Amino acid sequence: MTEGKASAPAKVILFGEHFVVYGKPAILASIDKRISVKARIRRDEDDDTIAIRSDIGVAGQYCNGGEFRMVEGGSEAKAVLDPLYYAIKRVLATRNKNMGIEIDICSKVPPAIGLGSSAASCVATIAAVDSLFKRNPSKQNVCKLAIEAESCIHKRTSGADCYVSTFGGLINYDSMSKAFKKLETGGSISLVVASTGVNHSTGHLVAGVKRFRERNQILFESLAKRASDICLEASIALTAGNYEKIGKLMDENQIILQEIGVSHYKADELVEICSKAGALGAKITGAGGGGSIIALAKDKEQGTKIASTIRAAGYQSFEVGIDNNGLVT
Ligand code: MEV
Repeated sequence: MTEGKASAPAKVILFGEHFVVYGKPAILASIDKRISVKARIRRDEDDDTIAIRSDIGVAGQYCNGGEFRMVEGGSEAKAVLDPLYYAIKRVLATRNKNMGIEIDICSKVPPAIGLGSSAASCVATIAAVDSLFKRNPSKQNVCKLAIEAESCIHKRTSGADCYVSTFGGLINYDSMSKAFKKLETGGSISLVVASTGVNHSTGHLVAGVKRFRERNQILFESLAKRASDICLEASIALTAGNYEKIGKLMDENQIILQEIGVSHYKADELVEICSKAGALGAKITGAGGGGSIIALAKDKEQGTKIASTIRAAGYQSFEVGIDNNGLVT
């Protein structure tokens, strides 16, 4: 096989971001926005260059055993591409191969706004490269390698983003045991994403929370306990289809995220816009510090209205559905 293909979905975190890094649970959903990757073996057998190009405007080559040459994307390119290079090398090592590979990434997910584009890119890249050597690579192995590769960006990754991108659906993630349970919702859930337009670095935000925790140990423990209880209550409410309750829990989770310093004035403004537009609840999703917020609408019609109210206020916004497939090869 000379071309491998795979795609993996982006995600939203409904509850538990940041605290999931410290062993607490989180509820996440993969969404119907995908990253698709094509992998090809380079024709010249003596050329072991790994070339990666993404349509988000980033491209680079790793030559002579890892020397980076930026092709597009300026100083950001290396940080975006390093985890992918690491992932590709790991796949080749596990298959006992040393060869040049070309990667083309097509993304329907805006980067650096909390929707898990880097995890989805890692998952899809690993699966696309592995499928050059083996049909239908094991999801467990892909997820494990993706978490390793993500650790290049931030060492303390909980693995939650990689899990939901690989396995898909609405999941309750247990970061202690690195296991997850799929949640069935009573009814369909209408979610709206709004972007602050402020890009963030997950690594920096996770490091900021670590500092907050060191300085405010008792407060952090009590906030973490409440965030964990919120996840538990939200699991029950989701299964029962009690969306009023889920909305209230989202609002409460947002206050906790504000307290640990990961919200942003634009995120707070968006949450307020959503609330005034009748959303059942709204909060940042993912690392915060800008990034995106999610709002829960009572139905599809209200979701469409909330998204257009947000756009009228000058922000990017779209409705998202839950993806149930996860990684596809
Ligand atoms: C980032 O999408 C989610 C965080 O909780 C970090 C992590 O889980 O690794 C902020």
